[in-house]
Amino acid sequence: MAAATSDAGGGDDASLEEREQGALLTLRNVAKDYVSAAGVVHALRELDLIIQEGEFVAIVGTSGSGKSTLMNILGCLDRPTRGTYGLAGFDVGDRTNDGRALVRNRLIGFVFQGFNLLPRTTALENVELPLSYRGVPRKQRRKRALEALASVGLADRVHHTPNQLSGGQQQRVAIARALVTDPPLLLADEPTGNLDTRTSLEVLALLQRLNRDRGITIALVTHEHDIAACASRVCTFRDGRMVTDVRNETPLDAAAQLAKLPREAKGAADETEDHEGIARAAAKAPVPFSVFAAMWAAGSAGSLLGVLYNKLILDASVPAVTVAFGVLLESFVAARYAKRKLGRPLSQDQRARVALYYTLFNGVFVALALALKMPDVVAERLGHGASSAGLVVVALCSFVVAVSLLRFLLLSLFAPRAGRAAVAEH
Ligand SMILES: Nc1ncnc2c1ncn2[C@@H]1O[C@H](COP(=O)(O)OP(=O)(O)OP(=O)(O)O)[C@@H](O)[C@H]1O
Ligand SMILES: [Mg+2]
Repeated sequence: MAAATSDAGGGDDASLEEREQGALLTLRNVAKDYVSAAGVVHALRELDLIIQEGEFVAIVGTSGSGKSTLMNILGCLDRPTRGTYGLAGFDVGDRTNDGRALVRNRLIGFVFQGFNLLPRTTALENVELPLSYRGVPRKQRRKRALEALASVGLADRVHHTPNQLSGGQQQRVAIARALVTDPPLLLADEPTGNLDTRTSLEVLALLQRLNRDRGITIALVTHEHDIAACASRVCTFRDGRMVTDVRNETPLDAAAQLAKLPREAKGAADETEDHEGIARAAAKAPVPFSVFAAMWAAGSAGSLLGVLYNKLILDASVPAVTVAFGVLLESFVAARYAKRKLGRPLSQDQRARVALYYTLFNGVFVALALALKMPDVVAERLGHGASSAGLVVVALCSFVVAVSLLRFLLLSLFAPRAGRAAVAEH
């Protein structure tokens, strides 16, 4: 690494005052003490640090040297015990908790080692969250979240939940969530700590691209030299002090390093497994209850249309027409609604379950309605002995199978191209 080294006080020969001009972030004489029953821990001592807009700073140091303490202060999650912290012209130390929360929400994106995504919530919803807190309208929220996910290369994973994503993909969702509000500063505390080499390089390449193309200032904590070598400046901490501050004129290009890794390495194998895992999970995923509700509403509306058609056009009462309208509309709405909701058509497995459960539910509902409306007829039909009851059961089962099959075919017709192959294609 071709580097210009300086003492802990700065990154070059210019005075603090000169470098403060146009700085995004200025720490002056900052210290952080933690007081507990065991005594006082000086987690940070007399730190002067200035970070200019567009810098990519790696923060390294042994465990307990104060890196996370520094990140918490930079991120306005904690206050320094002494000293001043200015961010984009705001004196953050002077602000109330609410004031700091405002600065944090407007100016800073966070990425953590453990991703910190909400489980059972899709990538899209996770990324929308910071915009919800800001009261951004739903449509705009969705649009911006989709753009952020596309910018981290996850346009085809927006409807996956974290457990359907690999570690690297989860971290990319977290980066999209950090960037969806367009903050000028991104803070990352060991973002690659849980990732293998290939995936770490992928995340680094993404961060380098965001830094280069969008001018986002990045401060990143890492234990790994290879990762730190990708930054344009490396600050080393020991016992709460910054002991070196090194400018790196030729940072490693993570994308180029990635290209040098052999294709058959572990990462490639993981990717295949990942695709298969995702396809399997998506095929077997439960069908949202709202799909059934939409189907029920559409079936009722379709039947009503059928009744109107009978009355106004045919001028007769043809039950088959009513049923046909109901079944066609409910299958159409269910197939299209599910596709919108899940971001892909229903899988074979899901279509079969929708068709069968809905037919059974409908069958029970119709049978109950009939029994209540015409109890005498039902009792008479069932009262002809065991063989007659057996016939009724066989007829009902055949009916359920036939109607389920019809619904399955209609669901496939209205939203084709489903199943494992289609999911794996993404
Ligand atoms: N809330 C706290 N109360 C008391 N001491 C704390 C607290 N948080 C951190 N410390 C202490 O402050 C020092 C710096 O901790 P910090 O978490 O910043 O280290 P770090 O450099 O991030 O370490 P690591 O690499 O292990 O994450 C440590 O000695 C730690 O024990
Ligand atoms: Mg730490």
